[in-house]
Amino acid sequence: MSLPLTRKDMNTIASPIRLVLLCLALAASGLLQACDPGPSEPAAGFEMPTFSDPLLAEGRSVWMGTCRACHLMGAGGAPAVTDYPNWQPRIAKGLPTLFKSPLHGIKDEDGQYKMPPRGGNERLTDRQIEAAVEYMVASVEFLHQQANRH
Ligand code: HEC
Repeated sequence: MSLPLTRKDMNTIASPIRLVLLCLALAASGLLQACDPGPSEPAAGFEMPTFSDPLLAEGRSVWMGTCRACHLMGAGGAPAVTDYPNWQPRIAKGLPTLFKSPLHGIKDEDGQYKMPPRGGNERLTDRQIEAAVEYMVASVEFLHQQANRH
């Protein structure tokens, strides 16, 4: 009668567990870096700014939850927060006009939504969407100024 699992199999199964134990040991000794999956915030090499204004602070949390998916890196043709030249003519339209786009969504020539209404998050109130727009505009300008300082 042969055993269902060989010793080699046991080693293969055990290795992920060993890795976890190793990470726990390293964490306990303060050497966590080796196991840290990395920062959860932008892999793009910049941090999204934080503002003390309560409206912008609320806008940031809405933006992080819903708008970031497209507007951080510019997925699906969305203007990325770091793409100042793309934002300049949009910002020039003024906030009241800018509020309308995410509230109603934007369609392409085929009638498909490029940006769904409310960024796809139906639970957001108008005020939360407006706060997210204000946060995005403030961030675009902040990141642009920051880039020019270097
Ligand atoms: C599924 C991707 C996606 C998500 C999620 C998304 N957007 Fe967009 N957004 C786009 C695209 C694409 C455009 C550019 C459309 C165009 O101008 O053709 C855009 C453009 C915009 C603009 C500029 C509109 C203009 O009139 O020039 C604003 C403001 C904006 N988004 C705000 C938001 C906010 C606020 C959220 C979160 C609540 C959000 N977006 C979530 C894809 C997205």
